[in-house]
Amino acid sequence: MRNKNYLMNNIADEIKSKCNIVDVIGRHVTLKKAGVNYKGLCPFHNEKTPSFTVSEEKQRFICFGCGASGDVLSFVQRIQNLSFPEAAEKLAEEYGIEWKSSVFDTEAKRSVYYDINRETATFFYRAFRSKKNPALAYMARRGINDDVLKKFGVGYADGEWDSLRGYLLGKGFEEKLLLELGLVSSSNGKIYDKYRNRVMFPIINARGKIIGFGGRVLDDASPKYLNSSDSRVFKKRDNLYALNVTRQEITKENRVILCEGYMDVISLYRHGVRNVTASLGTALTSEQAAVLKRYTEHVVIAYDSDRAGLAAAERGMDILRDAGCRVKVLRISGAKDPDEYVKAYGKEAFLESVNRAPSLTEYKLAAARERCDISTTEGSLAFLTLAASVLRDLSPVEADVHIRKVADETHVSEGALRREIWGENTVDYRRTAPAPALRTESAAEDSGVSMLERNLLRLMLQSGAYADRIKPYDRVFSSPAAFRIYSAVKAVCDDDGDADMRKLEDVLDRTDMALLSDIRENVRLADKEEEVFAECLVTIRLLSLTGREHEIIRMLTVANDEENKERIETLTRELIDIQREIKEVKGR
Ligand code: UTP
Ligand code: MN
Repeated sequence: MRNKNYLMNNIADEIKSKCNIVDVIGRHVTLKKAGVNYKGLCPFHNEKTPSFTVSEEKQRFICFGCGASGDVLSFVQRIQNLSFPEAAEKLAEEYGIEWKSSVFDTEAKRSVYYDINRETATFFYRAFRSKKNPALAYMARRGINDDVLKKFGVGYADGEWDSLRGYLLGKGFEEKLLLELGLVSSSNGKIYDKYRNRVMFPIINARGKIIGFGGRVLDDASPKYLNSSDSRVFKKRDNLYALNVTRQEITKENRVILCEGYMDVISLYRHGVRNVTASLGTALTSEQAAVLKRYTEHVVIAYDSDRAGLAAAERGMDILRDAGCRVKVLRISGAKDPDEYVKAYGKEAFLESVNRAPSLTEYKLAAARERCDISTTEGSLAFLTLAASVLRDLSPVEADVHIRKVADETHVSEGALRREIWGENTVDYRRTAPAPALRTESAAEDSGVSMLERNLLRLMLQSGAYADRIKPYDRVFSSPAAFRIYSAVKAVCDDDGDADMRKLEDVLDRTDMALLSDIRENVRLADKEEEVFAECLVTIRLLSLTGREHEIIRMLTVANDEENKERIETLTRELIDIQREIKEVKGR
């Protein structure tokens, strides 16, 4: 079955098969027949003699004056300044091409799932509200007040085996869909409610759609939490808890506190700490990190203080760093988790420990220090090795302050420590730039695909493993062609591990396939995949830095001096940091 990623391609194909490029362009450019082709004055540059050519046979245009070329969709995109989907929608509308059978149909199908989830949440919510019930008492005992319970839509699944099922079937929903959503389970041909005797937390995405549920037992029974499994509308790895409630506060504070559990989020919120979220019963994924990054770069990990929490924090911080976040790690002490901490010590104490939380590097160095007894020579050496491996991940500037400190406490010279970190004669891999890709006239023509996009796509074609590693940065695929190819390659890799050219042929049109072959043949990796990938990451980092730089400059130009004094100071400091980092990254 075709993946939804290909929908855009299906529509593009359909559009191309139903409308004639000569007619579409003819509305903007006066075309005259010239041999088998049509000619006119190029709308994309100034010219007096026509070099703009439209081929009816190939359904493509090309201007021999300015080099513009493409198909009907890229023409409409360019002449009306539209994105690819906008151009597709416009043409589809004009030519009466049914969107229903494609995009909207899927949306419509999905909306049934959302409806069912909404009804379910309502059902649980009513049960929680209407009469005295153990869930309400339980939550009250845990100190959560009514406003907050309402805000998070907390509900109650009663002890019956058939109450939700009966309710939803009564509303006319198909049983099959209830099973798909994991609201009911089946065993030995019997279908029954999955959630019983639980307090229910609806999981709502940033667009306000209810996508799943987490349910907690009211006692010490096991499993403590039951969560929705993945479904058409719920992908655990892409979503975080409560962003529907907390995302504005996260942007406003420009910082997010990332917890382990539902109850941590709700309890912190109840105590007035509202820039919070939690991953959904799984270890943090790179997709979730990329989502957070959209709201803020500044992430404070506030996981449980037990061993599992520490281990999860250690994994989470690298994932967040790789997604481009600035990470701090809060170690809860004197309590099991943020919920217990804030209840015991209050909001101010919690925020203070957030502010004191060490950065990722400080945290890792401290952890290394704890593991070694640096008063002995052996311990000191062991610590140096660990510290070196931590600092190796940093840029030289970032590493600098730490190098001084570590050198100081271990009584070795900074030079020796630098050699320990980067080796005697380490070649800076960034200097061995990837071989420049040769462009072939035909395929790469006017594709608008950047070198970065080409390199990333090439890596994905080399090995499916890169598809996963590139996923957190998929925003860099900003040209429509690159995004289409990326989606297709990613989907094929997801299914089969590596990209199979024949499968790609099924889903990409000829132009995209030509571009893909061009990338495969002409972007050379020369056995330096990892170097090329590292180079790409540097470029991406640079893009994100310059993006933020411009954003800050824009904010500084509009900020009112008097009112926003503090904000201006923070922004200016950030700007200086960023510009220094840009210089560093460029200098490597
Ligand atoms: P915790 O046990 O730390 O949850 O698990 P919590 O939110 O602090 O719960 P309380 O305070 O005991 O009520 C952290 C998260 O791990 C997932 C849930 O998402 C939970 O919020 N989890 C935990 C499960 O999915 N299943 C479980 O059985 C336990
Ligand atoms: Mn807890």
